[in-house]
Amino acid sequence: MFDFNPAAAADKAALYAELSSAADAVTRGERDGIANMANIAAIVWQFLPDLNWAGFYRLVEGELVLGPFQGKPACIRIPIGRGVCGVAAATRETQLVEDVHAFPGHIACDAASASEIVVPLVHEGRLIGVLDLDSPSPARFDSADARGLEALAALIAARIA
Ligand code: SME
Repeated sequence: MFDFNPAAAADKAALYAELSSAADAVTRGERDGIANMANIAAIVWQFLPDLNWAGFYRLVEGELVLGPFQGKPACIRIPIGRGVCGVAAATRETQLVEDVHAFPGHIACDAASASEIVVPLVHEGRLIGVLDLDSPSPARFDSADARGLEALAALIAARIA
């Protein structure tokens, strides 16, 4: 049983430090990647305000396949290079999208989504998937979110591979 209190964080850096330490606590010593992704999706959902979707796509046989998440049911398969997730996978660079409607090829899984951030997950030089967060608010994510989520991605990659 885990009980966290994200409301106490003073700023985004502190919030992400707490989020990462919660993710560390729930995944430490567990070798099942799906279980770890499920708990991390739940932690991201609990810690970060103003989200309508948070979860994983896994690289399976050359395409992104839906993994554990929180939010509405989503598209199951995304080709590499397509949509925000596919571009993050192809470039291995975080995609910070202030207005999803202005992103060429954006894939609308939930019509409520207005902004999005997708962070690639790389383990031992190999892409293993992406972490995707959507918000109903325009420009919900900034460089502090990117830094916090990239640190989380580095921490968890070995535990979800
Ligand atoms: N919007 C994403 C698709 C995944 S959903 O947001 C959960 C994209 O363009 O890749």
